[in-house]
Amino acid sequence: MGNIMANSHFLDLKDLPSEVLRHILDTAKAWKTARSDMPKGAVDEGAPLAGHTLAMIFEKSSTRTRISFEMAMQQLGGSSVVLQGGSMQLGRGETVADTARVMSRYVDAVMVRANSHSTVEELAAMGSVPVINALTDRSHPCQLMADMLTMEDHLGTLDGRKVAWVGDGNNVATSLIEAATKFGFSLSLACPESYGPDKDTLEWAKREGGDIVVTTNPREAAEGAGALITDTWVSMGDADADARMAALKPFQVDTALMELTSRDALFLHCLPAHRGEEVTADVIDGPRSAVWDEAENRLHVQKAIIAWCLGKI
Ligand code: CP
Ligand code: NVA
Repeated sequence: MGNIMANSHFLDLKDLPSEVLRHILDTAKAWKTARSDMPKGAVDEGAPLAGHTLAMIFEKSSTRTRISFEMAMQQLGGSSVVLQGGSMQLGRGETVADTARVMSRYVDAVMVRANSHSTVEELAAMGSVPVINALTDRSHPCQLMADMLTMEDHLGTLDGRKVAWVGDGNNVATSLIEAATKFGFSLSLACPESYGPDKDTLEWAKREGGDIVVTTNPREAAEGAGALITDTWVSMGDADADARMAALKPFQVDTALMELTSRDALFLHCLPAHRGEEVTADVIDGPRSAVWDEAENRLHVQKAIIAWCLGKI
């Protein structure tokens, strides 16, 4: 296809044309299949990103994102530099703009996990290399690309299917609303009144013709769904843990809720999970759960995301 927006950022799904997102997803599928028998550290044929370096900034904790991006660069034949935000001069007052200008002189792309979404936007605006959003307080677009790959791998297609979200209307839910609108599947979100999905995102989805339903009834959302997704009740940076735990208690995903979904339905969770809170152990460790495939797919989609940002696909 060629990169129609060469040297582009990957900040939010809503900013990118559907055909770009589809191209990234299809590339991820092809690359995943092509290296299925190779050792995890082996470089892909043709080393698509030889000579390229990705810097990663983490202002928040990470297991999956850190490892999958680092292995992504290794498999693509490039290299990576991992930086903890607190140990950078950024952590003691150097501006985001100056950080962006300096990093652009050293590396080919920057991945950032930031407390505030505005940090990611400013890095993108002030630097001269592509920036990838690896989770902010607003969104988690890389996660949703991995969820798309997982759902399509298991279900074939989401055409005519409904996906359900049950729990906190958080950053992952925001990216899910954007994914539903861009990829064109029906989405039903069940959230407590006080922790509902982002209103601006819902309005954007409505303007874009997204098929999105919001309810406070988990059973209504789960009914007939092809995938049921949840996430932690207390995200990184949330200060009101007690109030959240109380409000979200009726939104636990258990076997009774999964029984309302379609016969082939998947359970997804971006992880880390809290068994006995947002999901029961029998669901996340049960036959419907695709959470380990979902975690693996972070690696495959991010390889295609980085390659797209650098104009290689
Ligand atoms: N799902 C996810 O982003 O996991 P980490 O916080 O471990 O990176
Ligand atoms: N919503 C969670 C996702 C963690 C990967 C958080 O922001 O902490």
